[in-house]
Amino acid sequence: MSTKPFKPVRKAVFPVAGLGTRFLPATKVMPKEMLPLAGKPLIQHAVEEAREAGIEELIFVTGRYKEMLEEHFDHQPELMTTLEARGRTDLMDRLKSADLPEGSLFLTRQPKPLGLGHAIWCARKLVGDEPFAVLLPDDVVQARRGCLSQMVDAYTELGGNLVAVMDVPREDTRKYGVVDPASDDGRIVRVRGLVEKPDPAKAPSTISIIGRYILQPEVFDHLAAFDRGAGGEIQLTDAMAKLIAGQGFHALRYEGTRYDCGSPAGFLQANLAWGLADPETAPALRDFMDRLDRGTIPRSQDKAGAQR
Ligand code: UTP
Repeated sequence: MSTKPFKPVRKAVFPVAGLGTRFLPATKVMPKEMLPLAGKPLIQHAVEEAREAGIEELIFVTGRYKEMLEEHFDHQPELMTTLEARGRTDLMDRLKSADLPEGSLFLTRQPKPLGLGHAIWCARKLVGDEPFAVLLPDDVVQARRGCLSQMVDAYTELGGNLVAVMDVPREDTRKYGVVDPASDDGRIVRVRGLVEKPDPAKAPSTISIIGRYILQPEVFDHLAAFDRGAGGEIQLTDAMAKLIAGQGFHALRYEGTRYDCGSPAGFLQANLAWGLADPETAPALRDFMDRLDRGTIPRSQDKAGAQR
């Protein structure tokens, strides 16, 4: 077993400059990453996962109307004083969960939403010449051990570049970056190619990348070409594919369940999954689901005996 021969991953980039059009009008002025999952905004879930994995510097790539994201991590003295006066230490603890160590949050802006690859490129000066993680806050992974922690463990063995992957139905490959595997031991896949959003008939596999990456800084050289890929956007997958020839590139089948909170259905599923995992909310939710199954949810028109 190696003893950390690779530069450690200390920094994480959170691209949060997307438009979130699938949640309009909720996201007209509020960033998609502020949508609450079990009482915490999506961005806080991602930040907590990164900190659990040992990340020291958090880099947000923000855009217009995104100020709320950085403010969420500010200390809130007035609210703290009010809660203290009311003796609500429970709520004070909840509030403190969004405090960050001073000087650990860095911000840069993506002036135009030209794609995920472009957002990452906007963070190049803050990342500098070292490996870094990328977390897309709208991908949330429910796991005993955080997805990024699992990745950092694998990176410690493998070095190079690493993406988190899951197997998807073949008809879904057009929604993901897809891996062309050189070898696959069921946990670690050695990657020989990557394709962004392939047509199912042409996809090299069904092994698909979720929003978690550990990358070497050379990716910025490839992103700097500003090549447009799928959907006319500057794609991170295309720049990563160019790293494969010169550097190690692996994919990790993480343990856990990923929810696509960037889509309305995935977001609702995640809320249900978290609600069912919480002993405070699970009994009421289970009861509600049973009644839904049995068709015994009262409807107001039933009471009134009216049909719309
Ligand atoms: P999405 O593909 O989900 O796009 O981005 P979006 O704009 O946020 O949402 P829709 O499709 O309009 O509903 C994936 C991640 O990449 C970021 C987003 O903020 C999200 O975290 N992103 C995307 C950027 O930061 N900049 C971009 O130009 C595009």
